[in-house]
Amino acid sequence: MTDSTTNSTGTIHPEFRSDPRGRKRLRRTRRHGWSRAMQRETRLSPADLIWPLFVCDGQGVEEPVAALPGVSRGSVDVIAARAKEAAALGIPCVALFPNTPAHLRDETGREALNPDNLMCRAIRAIRDATGTDLGILTDVALDPYTSHGQDGILDASGYVTNDVTVDRLVAQALVQADAGADIVAPSDMMDGRVGAIRDALEHGGHHDVQIMAYAAKFASAFYGPFRDAVGSAGLLKGDKKTYQMDPANGDEALREVAADIEEGADSVMVKPGACYLDIVRRVYENFDVPVFAYHTSGEFAMIEAAAKVGAGDRDAMVMEVMTAFKRAGATGVLTYHAPLVAKLLND
Ligand code: PBG
Repeated sequence: MTDSTTNSTGTIHPEFRSDPRGRKRLRRTRRHGWSRAMQRETRLSPADLIWPLFVCDGQGVEEPVAALPGVSRGSVDVIAARAKEAAALGIPCVALFPNTPAHLRDETGREALNPDNLMCRAIRAIRDATGTDLGILTDVALDPYTSHGQDGILDASGYVTNDVTVDRLVAQALVQADAGADIVAPSDMMDGRVGAIRDALEHGGHHDVQIMAYAAKFASAFYGPFRDAVGSAGLLKGDKKTYQMDPANGDEALREVAADIEEGADSVMVKPGACYLDIVRRVYENFDVPVFAYHTSGEFAMIEAAAKVGAGDRDAMVMEVMTAFKRAGATGVLTYHAPLVAKLLND
C-alpha cells in the first residue's frame, strides 16, 4: 500500500519525515558499547548494596529457606563468614534478622532485650571477623521475638499498643548498640520511636550509632518468605495494617518520612521497593536525606520464580531492577541478591 507520504517501497518520503536532515537521531549514541557506557546516567556499584542475613541457633548450621531459593539461615559462625564474604565483595553493610528459637518467644518479646540473644552474638562475631570494615545494621522490632508474630506489645483487645511498644523498642535498640551495632533500623512503624531511640542513644553515649528508619513501610503482601525465614509466619494471626501503611497512600509516606527526619533519622527507607519507586522518587525529590529501598523477600522470590519457569534471565532481571532503584533516586538497596549483584559487578 502506498499513499502520498510513502513511495513504492514503503519508505517515508524525506519531505514527510519530522527531521528530514537527520539532525536528531537518538540511536546514534546507542550504536556501540563504548558509547552506551559513556552515556549511562545511572551506575551501580557494590557499595550500593546492603545484604540482609538470617541468624539461627547452633554451630555450623545452614538451613535453606524454602520460599527463598539460594538463601539460607546461618548460625552465628556461618554469619560471621558471610560477613567476611560481604566485605571482600565490596558490600559495605549487612542487615541482621534472628530466627529466635520457639521456646524463647513470648507475649512481649523479652528475648529482644537479652544481651546474649542471637542478634547480639551475631553482632559480636561479625565485629571480631571484620573489625570496622563492615557496617552492621540491626532490625528494631519485636516480631522475631513475640509468640504472636506482631511487631509490638498487645493490649487486652489484641491491639498493638504504641507507647508501651516504643519503650520496649528503645531498650532493644540500646541492647543492640551496646553489642556493637553501627546502624539501628526500626522496622516497626510505631509513632515516635525514632526520637525516643535517638534520645536514648545520645543519653547512653552512642553518639555515632546511626538510625536508618523504615519510614515508609507498607502493609505488603511481599513479606511472606521473610516471615518464614524468621519463623513468625506460622504465629502471625491477622495482619499489620494498624501500624504499617496502606499501599494506596503516597502523600502519607512523605509525612512519615518528614516525621522520622525531624526525630533524628540519619537515613530513611521505603519498603517494599520495586512496586514503590514512585515513593522512592518523591522522597528523593522532597528531602535531603539518604533514601534506601528494601527489595523485599517476596520481590526476590518473584524474580527467582520467573527465572525458574524460563520467563527471563535471572541475572539480567536482577540487574535491571537494581538499576531501576538507583535511577529512581535510591542511595542504596537492601537485597538478598546482594552477593550475586556484587559478583556480577566485580567480574
Ligand atoms: C519485621 C520486618 C519485616 C521485614 C523486615 N522487617 C516483615 C514484616 O514487617 O512483617 C520484611 C523483609 C522482607 O520481606 O524481605 N519488622
